[in-house]
Amino acid sequence: MIGSVKGTRDLLPPETRVWGRVEETAREVFALHGFEEVRTPVLEPTELFVRTVGEATDIVHKEMYTFVDRGGRSVTLRPENTAGVARALVEHGLVQAAGVRKLWYAGPQFRYERPQKGRYREFRQIGAEVLGAADAATDAELLVMLFDFLGRLGFTGLAVSLNSVGTQECRPAFVEALRAYLEPFAGRMGDDDLRRLKDNPLRVLDTKDPAVKEVLPGAPQMVDHLDPASRAHHEELLALLSDAAIPFRIEPRLVRGLDYYTRTVFEVTAGGLGAQDALLGGGRYDRLVSDLGGPRTPGIGFAIGEDRLVDVLPQAFREEALASFAPVALVAIEPADRPSALALARTLRAAGISVDLDPAGKGPGAALKAAGKRGCRRAVLLGQREREAGTAVVKDLVERTQAEVPQAELTAYLKG
Ligand code: HAM
Repeated sequence: MIGSVKGTRDLLPPETRVWGRVEETAREVFALHGFEEVRTPVLEPTELFVRTVGEATDIVHKEMYTFVDRGGRSVTLRPENTAGVARALVEHGLVQAAGVRKLWYAGPQFRYERPQKGRYREFRQIGAEVLGAADAATDAELLVMLFDFLGRLGFTGLAVSLNSVGTQECRPAFVEALRAYLEPFAGRMGDDDLRRLKDNPLRVLDTKDPAVKEVLPGAPQMVDHLDPASRAHHEELLALLSDAAIPFRIEPRLVRGLDYYTRTVFEVTAGGLGAQDALLGGGRYDRLVSDLGGPRTPGIGFAIGEDRLVDVLPQAFREEALASFAPVALVAIEPADRPSALALARTLRAAGISVDLDPAGKGPGAALKAAGKRGCRRAVLLGQREREAGTAVVKDLVERTQAEVPQAELTAYLKG
């Protein structure tokens, strides 16, 4: 037997019904906010992530699926989707054309991490990006959309953790203050944190090492090093979120594990995810597009870990999604009844009723059993007697009741 690759998994029915409903809901909510879908390649030039996500990040340093293709190019299975969206917009000249671009996506991402609950090597994200708008109102509106989406899934009690990481101009002074604070603790750091301390001390703030975590509460904070414009942006955002009743808390050490962020960064965590509790993350990236050779274009976005989202999905949404697929099984009693069954199936489907026509012809007993297993709640049986009477027998496979219904009334009966 050939099994799936470690850290990847098959999503099978009935669980795929839940994934499908989540994605449909995202599409609906995002469209209400004026976002259009974008689909970028899973395979991108390695350079794209090195330049944007950053060489010193764990993602680029040790988690990418990178290989040289048969043409000798270094390519990477995308570890995230923001860089790909920015690349696509620059490549197609779309950032110059219109003012603001609002795009969303859903799809697989790849990171070579140690698999555990809520963490996979192939995982899926649902994300959204706004390009061409620099103001704090855009940040606020994006978070409002996010909460709108999560609210429709039935989540309550979630709060955004929020911070500002400033700009390329004011960050160096903070990074140096951080380095100076952390250096005396180098003795307690493992290889990973020592490398981070050298390459980019900000990354030490993401450490998972308890001995290093212990010293972080005393570390300097980015919010104390913000330039006046970044500070004003941050404060305006806080005020707008309060007005919009979006629950947030300020997390002075939140830096996020990607280098392209400027100013606003945020995460939402959810209980029940174990150590991997970030349900989603996002932030502003005002230099990403220009770093990729495009015109100076500010941007902000988020990506939700769909695997994690589905893991902690409120029960009511899950149950409704599971119940949403319940075709009616249509069973022809004898081979001679099949043409009529086929015609009836077309009539019912034209009326919007999902019909699962029994193909096997193994007899009604076996057909009903199989239908129950496939998730059908009801079955319609058609035999010679019913054909002659212009009726059909409707069986409720759950309640174990049945009724004979005139075919002319069948649609209304099944919908009722
Ligand atoms: P990220 O924080 O690296 O941000 O990933 C976003 C979310 O993807 C995480 O919060 C988590 O839920 C999920 N995720 C990440 N790695 C895994 C994994 N190995 N297994 C399961 N889920 C995972 C980004 O990717 C940015 N592109 C977000 C963004 C968009 N920033 C601006 N725009």
